[in-house]
Amino acid sequence: MPDHLTVVSHPLVSHKLTLMREKDTSTASFRQLLREISLLLAYEVTRELPMTTKQIETPLQPMDAPTIDGKKLALISILRAGNGLLDGILELIPAARVGFVGLYRDPATLQPVQYYCKLPDHLDERVSIVVDPMLATGNSSAAATSLLKQAGAKDIRFLCLLAAPEGVARMKAEHPDVPIVTAALDSHLNDHGYIVPGLGDAGDRMFGTK
Ligand code: URA
Repeated sequence: MPDHLTVVSHPLVSHKLTLMREKDTSTASFRQLLREISLLLAYEVTRELPMTTKQIETPLQPMDAPTIDGKKLALISILRAGNGLLDGILELIPAARVGFVGLYRDPATLQPVQYYCKLPDHLDERVSIVVDPMLATGNSSAAATSLLKQAGAKDIRFLCLLAAPEGVARMKAEHPDVPIVTAALDSHLNDHGYIVPGLGDAGDRMFGTK
């Protein structure tokens, strides 16, 4: 496994992901599972956050107690499917700042084109976590990560539900400094850019569209 990739193989994560993959899982169940799994993935992606201590007083005595260092985290959702991961993570990290990046694929060049971008300030002083459930070709992930870097972000992590080897390789080539956390690394992409075996179109499944 590439060293910049963490596959979270916790039984709860793997079990929930299997339920999400099943084609007959309802939109309501898919959404609920995504919320639950995003809490568990958020726990992993924040494992290496910088820590400091602060002086507090317990009912018994003063102590130097551990606390997360620096400014509030920045969560950056790649529209639209990233929003499904965002909801659960915000339950765990309610004070996080939130940004959105919208990209569509130009039909002629197949390259991602930005149509929306709203990012938190002081990204150079925050840990940024980019969220998108499916790391497929890596085109939009790499482009969104480049946008963040242009905006000053230095400490960036990428969180997804499923990754394809092609997307992981693309991110590694373009952004070797960005660690990736995923619930599973699947086999490959098909000719339409879908992850195989995958779970289909994550946006359609979480929002009930087709
Ligand atoms: N986006 C999806 O929603 N699913 C895939 O399999 C690949 C990209």
